[in-house]
Amino acid sequence: MNKLCVLVMAAGKGTRMKSATPKVLQPVLDRPIIDYVIRNVLSAGINQEDLAVLVGSGGEEVESHITENFPHAKIIWQHEQLGTGHAVKTARDFWSEYEKLIVLNGDLPMMKSQSLKRLISSAGENDCTVITFEAENPGAYGRIIRGKNSVSIIEHKDASPEQREIHEVNAGCYAFNVKSLLEIIDSITNKNSQHEYYITDALALMNDAEMTTGAFIMPESEMQGVNTQSELANVSREMRQEILTHWMSEGVRIVDPDTVYIGADVILSHDVTIMPNVQIWGRTRIGAGSVIGSGSILTNAEIGENVHVIAYAVIENSTLNNHVKAGPFCYIRDNTCLEEKSFAGKFVELKNSRIGEGSKVPHLSYMGDATLGHDVNIGAGSITCNYDGEHKNKTHIGNNCFIGSNTMFVAPVEVGDGSTTAAGSVITQRVPENSLGVGRARQTNIADWSLRNHNHKTTTEGDK
Ligand code: UD1
Ligand code: MG
Repeated sequence: MNKLCVLVMAAGKGTRMKSATPKVLQPVLDRPIIDYVIRNVLSAGINQEDLAVLVGSGGEEVESHITENFPHAKIIWQHEQLGTGHAVKTARDFWSEYEKLIVLNGDLPMMKSQSLKRLISSAGENDCTVITFEAENPGAYGRIIRGKNSVSIIEHKDASPEQREIHEVNAGCYAFNVKSLLEIIDSITNKNSQHEYYITDALALMNDAEMTTGAFIMPESEMQGVNTQSELANVSREMRQEILTHWMSEGVRIVDPDTVYIGADVILSHDVTIMPNVQIWGRTRIGAGSVIGSGSILTNAEIGENVHVIAYAVIENSTLNNHVKAGPFCYIRDNTCLEEKSFAGKFVELKNSRIGEGSKVPHLSYMGDATLGHDVNIGAGSITCNYDGEHKNKTHIGNNCFIGSNTMFVAPVEVGDGSTTAAGSVITQRVPENSLGVGRARQTNIADWSLRNHNHKTTTEGDK
């Protein structure tokens, strides 16, 4: 028999969010609430196999999110949401195989693994232990009633005016002795103002059966639940502040913390500088000495050391190696890799391309499905015509090439090492090594054309 399992309750309607998206999938920064809860469980040392998530309201969406991100966690359906007590009961086949059960509300994104570890280690001390906090405004939380050697919980809606004065509230985290819970769970009724089965009633039932109940207090900042859009905004603000404070303590310079957003999975090195109005999301990593300029948005970007993202760069799912420069105003996406010391400049879009070491794409260009060797210079306005309406085709430009301004590469096409293209060329066939590719109409000058054309001023008229 395994010792301990965790049940996360995420089947509730989340009525107070007033949203079509299930509550636990609402985002805190760039991740759904439920991810913080599950990762907290995993980082407290619980295996996915010993974790089950209850789904119900919006359950298909929640289920597919969880199976995609935590494929070994169990999904248990609670088809009718009759309250948290009913939820725990619905999962009985899962947890009754264990000795100890941790039950967590699915709407606790701020909880830390230290607190969960403490709850885990206290499992077994009592038949039920709960986490509480001193709420500044106890609002709709369940109130903690402390007896001499026991604890029980009265829901806000069922509490007397005196009980509502109590500021110590239930956080929604419980450690149960499974054998004891099995003895009382069927006695939970829905005889209360909400006609719901409350898991919180388990404590009074245990006290009546002379079992033991206890509680320990944790800070409110960790234990607040998310029930409304404004609570979601509060939690997001606190999470953002926590992440920024952490990175500053690791030697990251954040010039204006009021305007910077960094997601929870981002990893930064010391001496990274983040300028105002920057957003950094997903699994982005940034190496030491790099500067991320104002207005830039990075998602799943791999940024090396001493990279300079100048300003207003959007970088997605791409790599910028050491000493790369990018921006202002560039869009780098879909597995693009800029090798060391290369450069993507103003109004440049790079898609699924490799820009070789020291190569430059300085202005107004689109490189899609292209590979550039080292020390290539791309003239302004050059474009890979990579899409023929049906397929994406590749362009390969060798080392040390000099691409004249406004060259169109009609892909699939190749330019050999050391070659040049003439400005304005449409390159439709391979340019061999060390050659000049010219693909443009010859210029013709028509003499005295302006003199014959009365609508046009001549140079003499213009001088008057
Ligand atoms: C609950 C507690 C309350 C506590 C508060 C802490 C009960 C009866 N009350 O209230 O004492 O102070 O959390 O945040 O438990 N859920 C299900 N199935 C259901 C109902 C709910 O899975 O049938 C899930 C929800 O998705 C949610 C969690 O259980 O993740 C708690 O439900 P919620 O409606 O937020 O309970 P609160 O009213 O906040
Ligand atoms: Mg809640």
